[in-house]
Amino acid sequence: MKIGIIGAMDIEVEELISSMDDIKKENISRIDFYEGRLQDKNVVVAKCGVGKVHAAVCTQTMILKYAPDAIINTGVAGSLNSELNIADIVISDGVVQHDFDVSPFGKPVGLISGIDLIKIPCSEELINKLVRAAEILEDTNIAVGTVASGDQFICSKEKKDYIVNNFNALCTEMEGASIGHVCYINDVNFCIVRAMSDKADGTANMDFDSFVKIAVEKSILLINNFLKQI
Ligand code: ADE
Repeated sequence: MKIGIIGAMDIEVEELISSMDDIKKENISRIDFYEGRLQDKNVVVAKCGVGKVHAAVCTQTMILKYAPDAIINTGVAGSLNSELNIADIVISDGVVQHDFDVSPFGKPVGLISGIDLIKIPCSEELINKLVRAAEILEDTNIAVGTVASGDQFICSKEKKDYIVNNFNALCTEMEGASIGHVCYINDVNFCIVRAMSDKADGTANMDFDSFVKIAVEKSILLINNFLKQI
């Protein structure tokens, strides 16, 4: 069993990488892939960079080169739900691309051409294992639901409302649905784990850096506990 772990920013994966043993590092398409052991499990960890294209390149490369049995995308996200506050956790049951729109051709907003899906489903088994691993987190709301991705940092009520009204998503970020899309077309199980760093409204860019640190700690704890338990 080998688990692929992808984060968009250094801060989202650097603690995982520094805890790994037997590391082999390889750079492909400007992305460093770290293969080795974490919590005594086989893993490959990469920082993909921000946005859907970086995430897709990283995921496809990871699948072809390292053949992980499952891929988990970890990091932070903007909360779209008033019940989910800074450092609360969302585990995806599916992912949507809120900026995919071929509605001028009569298709529903968000329908992904070629695979004819709006929401790409995650592996039930992974969801259940991640929910169980999340029990280690104290004073943290854990929600399972839709994660919405797009090539935009969401920082306004209008955009936030658009995503909630069209996709009923719990949180928004910039990579998860791209990673899910690539996993789906390669028949690889995947799930997204995101800790809330902001509320995706007009305040989202304020104190972002300090909230990211608090949020990332939670997602790292969860991932380490997941690896311990599998
Ligand atoms: N990642 C963390 N917060 C985000 C936001 N508000 N929009 C997009 N990606 C994010």
